[in-house]
Amino acid sequence: MKEHKILIAYFSHGGENLVDGDIVDIGSEGNTAKASKALAKKLEEMGYKPNLFEIDTLVPYPYDYDSCNARAKQEKEDGALPLIDDGPNNYELYDMIFLGYPNWWGTIPAPVKSFLRDHDTAGRTIIPFVTHGGQMFMYSLEEIAAEAPNATIKKGFAIAAAYISSAPYVIDDWMKENEDLLK
Ligand SMILES: Cc1cc2nc3c(=O)[nH]c(=O)nc-3n(C[C@H](O)[C@H](O)[C@H](O)COP(=O)(O)O)c2cc1C
Repeated sequence: MKEHKILIAYFSHGGENLVDGDIVDIGSEGNTAKASKALAKKLEEMGYKPNLFEIDTLVPYPYDYDSCNARAKQEKEDGALPLIDDGPNNYELYDMIFLGYPNWWGTIPAPVKSFLRDHDTAGRTIIPFVTHGGQMFMYSLEEIAAEAPNATIKKGFAIAAAYISSAPYVIDDWMKENEDLLK
């Protein structure tokens, strides 16, 4: 019987994205969605039953990079909290949250901030993981700590957009190095 009840909550934007400094159409499934699914698979192999939950905004982000980037920049400057869908069900059951997101403007996208404001994180363990165009976590861990001051935050893994297909290997390595966290 595994001890932790694990939620994987992630935000991800498919479509045009920044990959190694270039604008690339990565298709409808975003990189963080891919990484989250690989993480769920790994946790299942380890005997957990993670709940995979996508953070969705009521107003979707544009597919094209420039429009999406403009909205993301404005939201960052305004400290905006876009409305997100309800859920996940039975949130109170989960003591460990893997929180996945793309690096947007050096930090968490605004919907992730909305998620942290909407959900009580006190006493829970949050394990942030990021996909990025080259800048890894940047300021995102500090921002998560500010939004979840009473949670325990443990650094997860970072996967570069250009190497998203290696997600299962990055996750395997991270699990090996962080075995104690999941005990
Ligand atoms: C609006 C926007 C802003 C971004 N800002 C950054 C950034 O500041 N630093 C970085 O390394 N990558 C940045 N990227 C690239 C994404 O982090 C990267 O492509 C990520 O893997 C996308 O994940 P997703 O498909 O799950 O949304 C940005 C991408 C977008 C769309």
